Amino acid sequence: MRKKYLPIGVFDSGAGGITVLKACVDVLPNENFIYYGDTKNSPYGNLSDQEITELTFYAADKLVSMGVKSVVIACNTATAAAINALRAKHNEIRIIGIEPAIKPACLAVDGKVLVLLTQAASRQAKFRDLVEKYGLEKVIVYPLQDLAQKIEQNIQDFSKLKPYIFDVLKPYQNGDIEAVVLGCTHYIFVKDIIAQVFPDALLFDGNVGLAKNLKNVLSKSDLLNDQNQKGFVEFYSSDPKYQIIYQELWDKIHK
Ligand code: DGL
Repeated sequence: MRKKYLPIGVFDSGAGGITVLKACVDVLPNENFIYYGDTKNSPYGNLSDQEITELTFYAADKLVSMGVKSVVIACNTATAAAINALRAKHNEIRIIGIEPAIKPACLAVDGKVLVLLTQAASRQAKFRDLVEKYGLEKVIVYPLQDLAQKIEQNIQDFSKLKPYIFDVLKPYQNGDIEAVVLGCTHYIFVKDIIAQVFPDALLFDGNVGLAKNLKNVLSKSDLLNDQNQKGFVEFYSSDPKYQIIYQELWDKIHK
């Protein structure tokens, strides 16, 4: 089979990357996608850099062995910790990562920008460089220890997390926040609740930017799938019972 007809692999520590997958399918409806969530080892945000790198390598190898033409790291934490090493290892395929949307948020508002992300993502040089480059004087970095895991645990009904989210964001509720960056792909599932905490703020995430970048990269390498029909999406997880749970979640968000 010609390489352009191979699927694209999308990977996250768990369910968060399904929000990235949605953006990718919207931008590239004719592509086939294989999603892999490393649910068994989630959350990555509380692990060491070495652990995150090893798990990212394992997940990417798995997708490569399934015959993908490209790997999307749909996880800010894994991207910041491991993308450079992963690219060095797999120079035969295109590897796309996600970054907190700090640049567009800082360009859009004059006031404070609150960046929500995992602890592991917040300590990475890649992330620190982004903050320094675009908004040292206006960015507030707020690492959240438990939110990604709670989202994973409440996958059937995210609305149950409303009291927790209001509580954890309370320190910034009246802090003149003009923009909030969702720097973890899991948080996009609770975007509406976060918007209720900051009704006057603009919310940013990197999903559409990543999807457009993926299209661009594939197009430049003549790897866009030009089939004239909708592609398929398949789900896998390191915890097999999540395959069906992720499929159901996908059916809910992809109507
Ligand atoms: N969804 C991931 C991210 O974007 C990580 C969540 C986690 O496993 O801690 O950072």
